[in-house]
Amino acid sequence: MVQVGSLSISPPLVNASCAWASDLSQLQALFDCPYTGAVVTRTSTLEGFAENDSHTVAFVASSASSLNSYGYSPHPLAQYLAWTETLLSAAPAARAHKPFIISTTASDPDALRASLAAIQALRAKGPAFARIGVEFNTSCPNIRGAAPTGYAPAALAPLLGVLAAAGRADATLTLGLKLPPYVHAGQFAALLELLRGLCVDGADADGAGRARCPIAYIACTNTLGSALMFADQVAGGAAGAFAVPTALGGLAGDALHPLALGNVYSFARLLDAEPPASPLRDVVIVGIGGVTSAAAAVRMRAAGASVVGSATLFGKEGVRAFEILSGE
Ligand SMILES: Cc1cc2nc3c(=O)[nH]c(=O)nc-3n(C[C@H](O)[C@H](O)[C@H](O)COP(=O)(O)O)c2cc1C
Repeated sequence: MVQVGSLSISPPLVNASCAWASDLSQLQALFDCPYTGAVVTRTSTLEGFAENDSHTVAFVASSASSLNSYGYSPHPLAQYLAWTETLLSAAPAARAHKPFIISTTASDPDALRASLAAIQALRAKGPAFARIGVEFNTSCPNIRGAAPTGYAPAALAPLLGVLAAAGRADATLTLGLKLPPYVHAGQFAALLELLRGLCVDGADADGAGRARCPIAYIACTNTLGSALMFADQVAGGAAGAFAVPTALGGLAGDALHPLALGNVYSFARLLDAEPPASPLRDVVIVGIGGVTSAAAAVRMRAAGASVVGSATLFGKEGVRAFEILSGE
């Protein structure tokens, strides 16, 4: 069991937010799966995303890798909240404590404030809904004209301010950040500097008088954007010249694994180097990227992840993926 903010994640293995956590039946299967400790929804926005045929995923023929061109879910946030309410209301005893993590995103602080208010309205409906957390996705590489905010500290700062305000108003609200893959030391340092800035406010002090970081976890990493594969590299081929109709997409699975491990390792070392009283030391790392075997899950934990997540293997195998990853 791993404690992440107010959420107990047991076992510490989850699905990563993805297109296979998109509808009620998929969420039900994830909720029922005994090998995961939480359900993470596909990323949704207030309005829903205009999905079309160019948004898809291809599995690579030569390894357990994927390339996808998806944006966010076509279903709006309100739909995910309704499905979450349905599933948590009917939770069997065996799943009485399994949390739901709602992945959402926004590029504008007002929209994020509205999203958090909607999530909090569901959490306020009763104790069964208190185990709902929020993952703020800073890192979808497939949104035309919108750089992932995880790569743009100036754009991310006001959004983190909104998240921190919600966390200060309700210390039981567990907040996480889904980060893009970083490739140089300055990017890790810049993210930690933003997090440090959220902790200085005295209003964050908990009962013991120690400052608290309103962000309970970071999930590393999302897919690596601007990747290209040709149709003949894809299992079963593809209709056009490229693996996905947009040519460029987000790379995941085995091909991403070393970079994801490096991101987890880098953050783990930096968090560990924080002074003993630093609230950043409490930030939990969720390791995601190329966890396609039990050995890869072990590597993620050795690199510094407390919780491990997977999308590509889940897409290939369904929820059986989590039995494979748990080594049983
Ligand atoms: C088809 C597909 C859809 C995805 N959709 C989302 C999403 O909605 N939100 C998100 O935060 N990450 C999304 N991701 C990224 C995954 O959560 C994960 O970070 C990435 O795929 C690396 O993990 P993996 O190697 O296990 O696939 C998606 C990945 C795939 C393959």
